[in-house]
Amino acid sequence: MADLQTLKIVFQPEGRTVYVLPETTIIEAAAQAEIILETPCGGKGHCGKCRVKIASGCPKPTEHDTKVFAADELAAGWRLACQTKLQKNAVIEVPQDVRFFGQKILVDGIARKVDLDPSFRKIAVRVPQATLDDQTCDLDRVRQVLKAALPKPVVGLPFIRTLPFVLGTGDQCTLLLKNDELAAVEKDDTTSVCYGVAVDIGTTSVVGTLMDLTAGTEIATASRMNPQVSRGDDVISRLTHITENAGGLSELHGLIVGCINDIIAELCETAEIAGDDIYEVCTVGNTTMNHIFLNVDPRGIGQSPFAAVVREGVNITAAEMGIRINRAGNVYASPNIAGFVGGDTVGVILATGMMHGSGVRLAIDIGTNGELVLAAQDRVVSCSTAAGPAFEGARIRQGMRAAQGAIDKVIFNDSVEVTTIGNAPARGICGTGLIDSVAEMVRTGIVDYTGRILDPAEFDAPDFLKQRIVSRDGSNGFVLVPADKAYGNRAVSLTQRDVREVQLAKGAIRAGIEILLKEMGLSSGDIDEVYLAGAFGNFIRRSMAKRLGLLPGIASEKIKFVGNAAGTGAKMLLAARKFREEAEIISRNVRYVELGGRPDFQEQFMMSMLFDAE
Ligand code: FES
Repeated sequence: MADLQTLKIVFQPEGRTVYVLPETTIIEAAAQAEIILETPCGGKGHCGKCRVKIASGCPKPTEHDTKVFAADELAAGWRLACQTKLQKNAVIEVPQDVRFFGQKILVDGIARKVDLDPSFRKIAVRVPQATLDDQTCDLDRVRQVLKAALPKPVVGLPFIRTLPFVLGTGDQCTLLLKNDELAAVEKDDTTSVCYGVAVDIGTTSVVGTLMDLTAGTEIATASRMNPQVSRGDDVISRLTHITENAGGLSELHGLIVGCINDIIAELCETAEIAGDDIYEVCTVGNTTMNHIFLNVDPRGIGQSPFAAVVREGVNITAAEMGIRINRAGNVYASPNIAGFVGGDTVGVILATGMMHGSGVRLAIDIGTNGELVLAAQDRVVSCSTAAGPAFEGARIRQGMRAAQGAIDKVIFNDSVEVTTIGNAPARGICGTGLIDSVAEMVRTGIVDYTGRILDPAEFDAPDFLKQRIVSRDGSNGFVLVPADKAYGNRAVSLTQRDVREVQLAKGAIRAGIEILLKEMGLSSGDIDEVYLAGAFGNFIRRSMAKRLGLLPGIASEKIKFVGNAAGTGAKMLLAARKFREEAEIISRNVRYVELGGRPDFQEQFMMSMLFDAE
């Protein structure tokens, strides 16, 4: 093995560090650090919008740099991220205004992009005490002080019950409003304390983001493996678990509620706040995750005609859900589109704004499933492909999540060159490494168009590649990192079965894209923009994905990484009520295309599994 020479790139102000290959563009390195830059000109070096300041390790200016920047700016280290290829370790400052929406939310708060308008808000008031001369009841005295801000508040018994504990003092207090409803009253002025948590409930992982709802800023993020994984690694196996086990639903429901409570506890610890300071939890997830979270029987999703129980967004008290935040708090679960296209896809559509733009836009959210959305003019269609969890490391013999020691890049040059996350000894392979490996094996003829790993005698290639082919249990495998270079002296290899898993996954996604295009009467040449979403989509190398046939032959500059757009959508839903209305509109108007049982999908799927399908 030859370890690839890697460069250490630190992005400021976050201080996020990534390791990349020499010649990687800054824009790609930033994407790897989950920092997505605006590229209005499609990365052609014309618009000057992707400017970054390189504090150390600055390469020479390109021709485009010299046209865009003045001499003093060049001397200060300003460069175009789309044009600049990294040659040395570098520290790069990324200004907030060049970041795509996701990072504006992630890093800088959303007030500039989104008018902050959460469901919960607070008003500090002083409620006069009752006297012998004025025996107006507590509630009416509250109504009087609130009159100007909210003439006709909705009042429920839980609020009334809190009044005697606070109002008797006659001191300043804070009224908590949930939309137009008086939700609680708190002692003193607590208006500076109002937090919410946006949760992306993935089939495999759950990510929570703590947001300060008074400022629209992101405070902390925490994630966990979805504990339901122990009862099945994909949606279908979870549904099967519920079908086959009495109490299966409440078991899975309890697991996800516990997981979210753990995430909330960690967020509170990190931010040094109390659970009581959090007033709302907003979730997105696929329809099955949504139903299980809400403790709604999802079994119908698993049987023809695959209908969901509920499409619209659901509000429920946190107390009723067992979510440990303020007792007046609310849980909002986003709407779904169909049984197999859920709130996470609604989040992607919200975050990318693809319902509003012009041209033909395709969003691909690759998680345990591959959800696809195609928008053109005023029509939007979607589908879900059972891509399987291969790209998340599951069902791959040495597959793993994108964590320390995962092989994340592979190139065959004069040797088999790999990089691992954290530059640690290789322990396994994650999704991007998997795509790279198979793409390189196809390019060099190790894997033929049917996906078979050939015997060394069957193809022409340098010896260093042929020597990596090993025969085991009647089929071939390929050694990426030999035992003496790998963690725990355990070689990291790809098996024939691993390659088949990749074929199934890429075949399903690619076939889904083709069917959506067909539904709209379009072809891949009509696509103006592709949004690659999801933790995996964010790191994928476009050239490798195209070589593999996962993506159609779309020009790379048309492909944008949009990060965890579903999570971004959850944050938008948390931050502004208008997005909940928009989410409902999306949920009602995006047409779902059922792929199962369509002969043309089956035909396309068979074709798309082949490696020379381009
Ligand atoms: S100059 Fe337009 S994206 Fe870089």
